Amino acid sequence: MESDQIKALRRVVWHYYRRAGRDLPWRRTRNPYRILVSEMMLQQTQVGRVLPKYPEFLRSFPTVRALAEAPLAAVLRMWSGLGYNRRAFFLKRAAEIIVREHRGRVPRSAKALEQLPGIGAYTARAVLCFAFDEPVVFLETNIRSVFIHYFFAERAKGGSAVSDREIEALVEAALDERRSPREWYFALMDYGAHLKKTIGNPNRASMQYTRQSRFAGSEREARGRTLKLLLSGARSADELASLSKLSRSRVRRALSSLAHDGLVVKDSGRYSLKE
Ligand code: ADE
Repeated sequence: MESDQIKALRRVVWHYYRRAGRDLPWRRTRNPYRILVSEMMLQQTQVGRVLPKYPEFLRSFPTVRALAEAPLAAVLRMWSGLGYNRRAFFLKRAAEIIVREHRGRVPRSAKALEQLPGIGAYTARAVLCFAFDEPVVFLETNIRSVFIHYFFAERAKGGSAVSDREIEALVEAALDERRSPREWYFALMDYGAHLKKTIGNPNRASMQYTRQSRFAGSEREARGRTLKLLLSGARSADELASLSKLSRSRVRRALSSLAHDGLVVKDSGRYSLKE
């Protein structure tokens, strides 16, 4: 399908991108490891907060091998400020597997990428697109915004939800084999971010739409504070409760979820970071 509507969308998106496309550090590389790091950081954190952390992280861990060999505590420390630190743990584990099973090279297939911890359909395809310029179909929040705004505005107004499957069919149709997929997705993301700023978030009509939950009082907050204390050494649950000023029950819940994810281990009543 190459309808007039698709052609019109392409024109608008390219026009916007030529005028206001963002020059971002992770767009200046095709190194698959550097792309993977950026996509892991950008999964739940805004561009503005990733910008200062990204070069810092790469200075400390310039290669897959450096990341695989680094102590987990050093990686988590470098991640602080980005939130959702489980991603740092996954990224490090992914680096270890890439070294062990792929001779230190980020795999170039969605299937192999998706077998790595923390890498789902989106991140796998983002790596294929941004590192290898492959014409894959994938969605994230800004891309959804563009297609919902353009093709589902009426339905969105009527309050009925749009599924990712429907959006993906249009994303596929909008890919243009004469143009670089990498540039096209940069353009889509920039235009989507622009729409959100100017008209509000069209994604409320998406079946995937969820708001980031409140941080204060959340388990995410308790996990973050507990983990931060463990960066300086092993502690008992009581020590963690008094140092963090969290209730013992919140600390216990945070510890059990950190242990469940494999970030924390318990030994003779004391908790420490894995490794
Ligand atoms: N450029 C490449 N990936 C991006 C992302 N996830 N968010 C914003 N800009 C990007």
